[in-house]
Amino acid sequence: MKNSISIDPNTLSTKKLHSILLSAVAPRPIALASTVNNKGIVNLSPFSFFNVFSANPPILIFSPARRVRDNTTKHTLENVENTKEVVINIVNFPIVEQVSLSSTEYEEGVNEFIKSGLTEVPSEKIKPPRVQESPISFECVVDNIIHLGHEGGAGNLVICKVVQIHINNEYLDADDNIDTKKLDLVARLGANWYTRITEESLFEIPKPIFTKGIGVDKLPKHIFSTSVLSGNNIGRLGNYKGIPTTQEIEESKILPEVVKVLSIKDNQEKLEALHKIVKLHLENDNLDIAIKILFCL
Ligand SMILES: Cc1cc2nc3c(=O)[nH]c(=O)nc-3n(C[C@H](O)[C@H](O)[C@H](O)COP(=O)(O)O)c2cc1C
Repeated sequence: MKNSISIDPNTLSTKKLHSILLSAVAPRPIALASTVNNKGIVNLSPFSFFNVFSANPPILIFSPARRVRDNTTKHTLENVENTKEVVINIVNFPIVEQVSLSSTEYEEGVNEFIKSGLTEVPSEKIKPPRVQESPISFECVVDNIIHLGHEGGAGNLVICKVVQIHINNEYLDADDNIDTKKLDLVARLGANWYTRITEESLFEIPKPIFTKGIGVDKLPKHIFSTSVLSGNNIGRLGNYKGIPTTQEIEESKILPEVVKVLSIKDNQEKLEALHKIVKLHLENDNLDIAIKILFCL
């Protein structure tokens, strides 16, 4: 393909590869990890190589990597290797600047709670304290640590089993479920970029679980003949539960907006006009009507 570049990762410096991977695999949620060392001194640092991987057992994994710069390891890694305990605190917008400050590479033994101004709250089942200002905190015991290499940039997967969960009431809805609209989560992208999940940035896609979508291959082939319908429009149409019946299609053909389009003489013009109506119905969440109109040609 002419419109892309193709790269063998072995030909790149670790710095360049790191930059490509972190810009491409984004946004990443941020784990604010609080640990203690053998002497009980607290450490707090953020990690965006982080996600949930299992609900039963409840497993979170994050990765304090070897520094690309000088191949040294992070205090958090040393602490979890020694004590096998960590609190993973979720990061939202109101604390993101303090979280960034806590990533400063202070000397061993410096408590980043104090440096960042975040507040320690004793945990119930493990030694490291949790962050009071975090919306949700997971007390975890470390099941296993997988070292992915010995050179700068190598990750270390810290596999954490959740043993206690704390959710600030402020972020719950009336049914005690976490309210995504209230959470105000942030995530990390490439370079110094972050993103914020606001109500305006949220959208829903119905899950194709209860019904099997008919698939794009079962839609009329003319969907590919105009530039009116986007990939997302076509995906939504292919997610519909069944091909409309002949009767449903005939009923759609007498809708005034469709009659008008079907009377257009030029075939290409007719197709584009029909796709525009379909698109409009999709944008108004009327998939039922959109799919029937699509089959009118
Ligand atoms: C938002 C954010 C995300 C980060 N994610 C990671 C990460 O996933 N892995 C990593 O090794 N370092 C990451 N860092 C850098 C560490 O937080 C930083 O090296 C920190 O000083 C490590 O502290 P420690 O030595 O006390 O463990 C991140 C920094 C920020 C600000």
